[in-house]
Amino acid sequence: MIAKEKDFADLRKAGKMLAHVLRELVVMTKVGVTTAELDLAAERMIKEFDAVPVFLGYKPEGSPTPYPASLCVSINDEVVHGIPHETVVIQDGDVVSLDLGLSYNGYFVDAARTVAVGEVDSAAQLLLIATKEALDAAIKAAKVGGYTGDIGAATVEVATKYKLGIVEDLGGHAVGRAVHEKPFIANDGVAGEGDKLLEGHVLAIEPMLCEGRGAIILDRDQWTYRMEDGKRAAHFEDTVILTKNGPEILTR
Ligand code: MF3
Ligand code: CO
Repeated sequence: MIAKEKDFADLRKAGKMLAHVLRELVVMTKVGVTTAELDLAAERMIKEFDAVPVFLGYKPEGSPTPYPASLCVSINDEVVHGIPHETVVIQDGDVVSLDLGLSYNGYFVDAARTVAVGEVDSAAQLLLIATKEALDAAIKAAKVGGYTGDIGAATVEVATKYKLGIVEDLGGHAVGRAVHEKPFIANDGVAGEGDKLLEGHVLAIEPMLCEGRGAIILDRDQWTYRMEDGKRAAHFEDTVILTKNGPEILTR
């Protein structure tokens, strides 16, 4: 979508709702909690806002099954699209990414946070700091008249500074009227390349950094992406509107 002035109020409302729900989920992400409990809490809070959990039943082209939950929970070597389950219990030291989308009055927003649970090693702490910094840099690089590659290039710069890897093949995307809209925003972009960024673009910017090499594999469940080398990954995401005055972050 290209957001116009009339769309801003509802997009902002949707963003605030999602930020609130994620904040609550981050607090709940403690040792002993199951990922299914987090998913049910996400669904309940979204519905209390009269909003819709848009990942539930989402079936992108090429995926064999609809996504079965409202929330994606990806732990340690899992990167994105981890499916919540009653048997998956959060452990001390886990690096847990929570990724959630909702729609309100037809407006879609998407965001993610990664949480370090209990006693985590310093490498995990650095991974989170770096990925958060990559998100801030990537958002800053999103400018009307620029290119999707500028966003990826900002991610690459931060990853390089911290000597971390960048998750290959995945990336951000436009959002606004659907879970995924064009253009795609590669995490490992080159400045000045890719698609042109337009005023009113609503973008889900979501760098994913990793401790090892960037190669990923798709799990047998056909949803969960994990690092091929088994090392950990982190993921932060916000939805922004591109305005003449720069990106406006909706989901904080
Ligand atoms: N935030 C996720 C992404 O941008 C959307 C997940 S859709 C789901 O890829 F169906 F996997 F939940
Ligand atoms: Co997304």
